[in-house]
Amino acid sequence: MAEQARFLLAGVMGWPVIHSRSPALHGFLLQQHGLYGAYVPLAIKPEGLEAALRALPALCFAGCNLTIPHKQAAMAMVDAVDEAARAIGAASCVTVGEDGRLSATNNDWFGYVEGVLEIYPDWRADAGPIVVIGAGGGSRAVVYALVRRGAGEIRLVNRTRSRAEALANDIGPITVVDWDARADALDGAAMLVNTTSQGMVGNPPLDIDLARLPKDALVSDIVYIPAETPLLAAARQRGNPTVRGLGMLLHQARPAWRSWFGIDVSVTPELRTAIEATL
Ligand code: ATR
Repeated sequence: MAEQARFLLAGVMGWPVIHSRSPALHGFLLQQHGLYGAYVPLAIKPEGLEAALRALPALCFAGCNLTIPHKQAAMAMVDAVDEAARAIGAASCVTVGEDGRLSATNNDWFGYVEGVLEIYPDWRADAGPIVVIGAGGGSRAVVYALVRRGAGEIRLVNRTRSRAEALANDIGPITVVDWDARADALDGAAMLVNTTSQGMVGNPPLDIDLARLPKDALVSDIVYIPAETPLLAAARQRGNPTVRGLGMLLHQARPAWRSWFGIDVSVTPELRTAIEATL
């Protein structure tokens, strides 16, 4: 192991945190780069979040990731929140500055875009209408990403319409579509994204009839357990190109490493295989 000036320390704060794949992901990266450091799961109760965040500088952490249920609450507890986290309404990553100040950002949107581009380098958000299913935290990061990448028409469908309307109000020019009209909304779409928890292990598949979706439309899912959701399997079987959810998790690590450690890492096939093996 090369000699290093400092021990690289980061982690993920969540409650519960035991299911997070982030320690495996960042642990693999540390090992892959032969670096002296650790990335630890931090089981932090909501009432302890502020104290835990404020302890990061004293503990010599470079920063941390945030997962459920801390992504919104942390924004009010740090010293600076950037434009992406503000627009999305959630922070995914905190960095400790040299002066001990805490800054928060959201790297999920970047992870989503890069996850798509890794599989389809020529993908363009402005290729045609995009149907997004779901209006929770994951959807906010995806929709923000699509708007930033120049999406023209976004059709947003959510079981609870008011949540989709709130998202449209916060993030940009979006057409809200009724849940009952979701199959029709696929007409002429260039892309379909599932951001709901449907299709995740333990949940039923997303209930949507793909008959009206053009066969060349790109279908992506942000659920990554299982690696190929029933929606992606159905889309692939009818000939649609598909993008799995794991890329979003893998690629959001890149800006985190740059900001915590000043190191550029990439998503290699070895990294993907190692994390897929933990799913
Ligand atoms: P996340 O932060 O992971 O996106 P979330 O904020 O709880 O999680 O959002 C979950 C999304 O899955 C929401 O869009 C939710 O729809 P509602 O806003 O109507 O709750 C959607 N979802 C969850 N269960 C669903 C179901 N059985 N059918 C359709 N959509 C569902």
